[in-house]
Amino acid sequence: MIYIAPSLLAANFANLTEDIHKIEEAGANYLHLDVMDGVFVPNLSFGPGLIENIRPISKLYFDVHLMIVEPIRYIDNFIAAGADSITIHYESCKNCADVLRYMRDKDIRTGLAISPDTPWDVVVPLLELVDMVLVMTVHPGFGGQSIIYGALDKVREIRKYATEHGLNINIEVDGGINEKNVGLATSAGANVIVAGSAIFNATKPRHVINAMREAAEQNPFSL
Ligand code: DX5
Ligand code: ZN
Repeated sequence: MIYIAPSLLAANFANLTEDIHKIEEAGANYLHLDVMDGVFVPNLSFGPGLIENIRPISKLYFDVHLMIVEPIRYIDNFIAAGADSITIHYESCKNCADVLRYMRDKDIRTGLAISPDTPWDVVVPLLELVDMVLVMTVHPGFGGQSIIYGALDKVREIRKYATEHGLNINIEVDGGINEKNVGLATSAGANVIVAGSAIFNATKPRHVINAMREAAEQNPFSL
């Protein structure tokens, strides 16, 4: 199944309720929530307080992407705020297995992200602990960047490995995705599609979401 996940980073923060309702009505599945600490990435965004505030206004699946160092410190806060899944970066923790196990014990869905310079196979020993692998298609930190096409080779390797080993995981792509290149991501094996600027900057988000879904369905993964 294909899930479309607009990234809130590209919304107008003075009109959050309206913007969230707009993408929900336009057919989004997830709300992708980019948390940045100014240390792991050179930018700041928002924390659990904002997520807690918007939780009651939307039924969307809250897909929290933590770009913060030592995320173990804040897992409880994001669960309490209403996250449905929490994705941590491989590069951000001393012991990712411990963090993922901690999340599993708390019954929250788990994700593991890799930045563009990180090889795909670091995720292999951790796959049994994750529901989703996030392959960054830009260097994390900012919305509105251009896709790094080479990252899609990693999506293909991970999807191939998962298929060959009977692992039913989601693979998310994040950064520079639009209706023109989404088919390349899905044919490589991605099924969760983050898009910030492509959706929130559109005058008709519904058209973009429909076009993305159509392109995704026309370009399925095959081994
Ligand atoms: C980048 C974030 C992305 C970003 C995507 O660090 O993780 O989620 O907001 O935005 P676009 O789709 O505009 O590249
Ligand atoms: Zn993100």
